[in-house]
Amino acid sequence: MQFGLSLLLIVAGFIGNDQCLSCHEKQRTYLSTAHHLTSQAATATSIAGSFAPGKNILRTSQRELHYRMEARKDGFFQTGILGTPPDTISISERVDFVIGSGRKGQTYLYWGKEDQLFQLPVSYWTEVASWVNSPGYGDRSLEFSRPVAPRCLECHASFFEAVTDSGLANQYRRSNYVLGVSCERCHGPGKQHAELNAPGAPKPVDQAIVNPAKLPRDRQLALCSLCHGGIGSAKAPAFSFTAGDALEDFIRLDIPKEDEPLDVHGNQVALLERSKCFKSSTMTCSTCHDVHLRQRDAAEFSEKCMGCHKVESCGLFPKRGRTIVGKCVDCHLPNQTSNVIFSTHDGVRIRPKVRNHWIKIYR
Ligand code: HEC
Ligand code: HEC
Ligand code: HEC
Ligand code: HEC
Ligand code: HEC
Ligand code: HEC
Ligand code: HEC
Repeated sequence: MQFGLSLLLIVAGFIGNDQCLSCHEKQRTYLSTAHHLTSQAATATSIAGSFAPGKNILRTSQRELHYRMEARKDGFFQTGILGTPPDTISISERVDFVIGSGRKGQTYLYWGKEDQLFQLPVSYWTEVASWVNSPGYGDRSLEFSRPVAPRCLECHASFFEAVTDSGLANQYRRSNYVLGVSCERCHGPGKQHAELNAPGAPKPVDQAIVNPAKLPRDRQLALCSLCHGGIGSAKAPAFSFTAGDALEDFIRLDIPKEDEPLDVHGNQVALLERSKCFKSSTMTCSTCHDVHLRQRDAAEFSEKCMGCHKVESCGLFPKRGRTIVGKCVDCHLPNQTSNVIFSTHDGVRIRPKVRNHWIKIYR
C-alpha cells in the first residue's frame, strides 16, 4: 500500500503490518518471506530482471518479434517490437506491479485504459536468470492484453478494490490496494486487538484476533486453502473471506477424485490430504511450516517427520541405515515438474519444479 490504509479498510478494522510489528518484534522475520514479497510496487530492487544493454532483450520464436526492457526516468518499461526496420510497429507499457517473490520467477502488471490491470508479456525466470515469455501468452504475436482477474490478486495480494458496475472484469480503484499477503490476511482485522493491548490497558480476556492454531483443524486448512487449494469458482467477491471463516461460503473448490491426477503446482492442500500421514494424524500445514520464517532447508523439514516417525520405520532403513537421516523429504515429498505452467525462453519451453505434498512411497 502506497499512501497509508484506505478508508474502506480502516472502517473494516484493518491496521496494517507496521502496527502489528510494533508490538510483535519476534514476527519481524515475516518481512523476508515469500508471502510478504509476493506482490510489490515496481522498483529497481523489486524487479529481478536486468535492464543492462545486452541483457534487456527477449527474442521470441517469431524472428520478427522481440521485446526490450528499459529503465527510464518515469519508470520501467516493456516494449514489444514487430517487423524489420523501418517497417516496425511497437507497443510500450510501464511496469506498475511485480507479482512473485522471485523464488521461481516474477510476472509484471500494468495499469491500462479505464484503470484496467493487465499482465505484461515478458516475465522473469529465476532458474535461467533471464527474461522469458509470460505464461499464458503465446510468443508469436505482439500482445499486451491479458486481463488480471480478481482471483489472481486475491492469492497474491491482500486487497484490491474491484470496480464492478462497469462490466469490466479487471477494473480496480488505482489508489486502493494492499500488496503482499499481510498479517491480517491470516489473522483477521486487528484494530480492536491493538486497542485492547494499548499501554496501560488491563490484560484482555479475549484477544479479539484470530490465532489459527486455536481454530479447528478444518478451519486452519480452509485459511491456507484460500490460496493453496486450487483456483475454484467464486461464490462471493474476492477479498471477502477473513481468517476463521468457512471457505465453502466464499469459493467452491474443485475436489479432485482420489484417482484423478493432480498437478504439483497450486494445490498443496489436496495433495497433503491424500497422504496417509494426514489421514492417520491431526497434521496441519503448521506441523512443518512456520509461515513467519523463510524456511528453505530440506534437511530441517526432515526433522519434522521425526515428530511421528523413527528413522528405523523407513522401509529402506535395513539396507541404507542412517544415511537416510535428513533426507526423508527428498524421497517422500519430491520436487517434481509441473505440467500446467510453462513459459518459453529462446523458443524452448521451461517448467517449474514444485514440492509434491503427497507424502508417500515413490518408486
Ligand atoms: C499494542 C500492542 C499490539 C499490537 C499493535 C498487536 N498486538 Fe497482537 N498481541 C499483543 C499482546 C500483548 C498479545 C498477548 C501476548 C502474546 O501472546 O504475545 C498479543 C497476542 C496476539 C496473538 C495471539 C492471540 C491468541 O489468542 O493466542 C496474535 C495471533 C496476534 N497478537 C496477532 C497480531 C496481529 C496480526 C496484529 C496486527 C493486526 C497485532 N497482533 C497487533 C499485542 C499487540
Ligand atoms: C492470501 C493468499 C495466501 C494465503 C491465505 C496463504 N498463502 Fe501461502 N502462499 C501464497 C502465495 C501467493 C505464495 C507464493 C509466493 C511467491 O513465491 O510469490 C505462497 C507461498 C507459501 C509457501 C512457500 C514459501 C517459500 O518460501 O517459498 C508456504 C510454505 C506457504 N505459502 C504456506 C502457507 C500456509 C501454511 C498457509 C495457511 C496458514 C498459507 N500459506 C496461506 C498465498 C497464500
Ligand atoms: C488460487 C491461488 C492462486 C491464483 C489464482 C494465482 N496464483 Fe500464482 N501462485 C500461487 C501459489 C500458491 C504459488 C506458489 C506455490 C505453487 O507453485 O504451488 C504461486 C506462484 C506464482 C508465481 C511464482 C512465484 C515465485 O517466485 O515462486 C508467479 C509469478 C505467479 N504465481 C503469478 C500469478 C499470476 C500473475 C496470477 C493471475 C493471473 C496467479 N499467479 C494466480 C497461488 C495462486
Ligand atoms: C500466511 C498466514 C500468516 C501470516 C501472513 C502471518 N501469520 Fe501469524 N500465524 C499464522 C498461523 C498459521 C499461526 C499459528 C501457528 C501455529 O500453529 O503454531 C500464527 C501465529 C501467530 C502468533 C501467535 C504466536 C505464538 O507464538 O503463539 C502471532 C503473535 C502472530 N502469528 C503474529 C503475526 C504477525 C505480527 C504477522 C505479520 C508480521 C503474521 N502473524 C503473519 C499465520 C500467519
Ligand atoms: C510433512 C511436512 C509438510 C507439511 C505438513 C506441509 N508441507 Fe509444505 N513443504 C514441505 C517441504 C519439505 C517443502 C520444501 C521446502 C522448500 O523448498 O521451501 C514445502 C514447501 C511448500 C511450498 C513451496 C512449494 C514450492 O516448491 O515452491 C508451499 C507453497 C507449501 N509447502 C505449502 C504448504 C501448505 C499450504 C501446507 C498445508 C496444506 C503444507 N505446505 C504442509 C513440507 C510440508
Ligand atoms: C503428525 C504425525 C506425522 C508426521 C509429522 C509425519 N507423518 Fe508420516 N505417517 C504418519 C502416520 C500416522 C502414518 C500412517 C502409519 C500407518 O498407517 O501405519 C504415516 C505414514 C507415512 C508413510 C507411509 C505412506 C504410505 O502411503 O504407505 C510414509 C512414507 C511417511 N509417513 C513418511 C513421512 C515423512 C517423510 C514425513 C516428514 C516429511 C512424515 N511422514 C511426517 C504420521 C506422520
Ligand atoms: C532414498 C529414499 C528414501 C529416503 C531418504 C527415506 N525413505 Fe522412507 N521409504 C523409501 C522407500 C523406497 C520405502 C518403501 C520401502 C519398501 O517398502 O521396501 C520407504 C518407506 C517408508 C515408510 C513406510 C514404511 C512402511 O512399512 O509402511 C516410512 C514411514 C518412511 N519410509 C519414513 C521415512 C523417514 C522418516 C525418512 C527419513 C528419516 C525416510 N523415510 C527416508 C525411501 C526413502
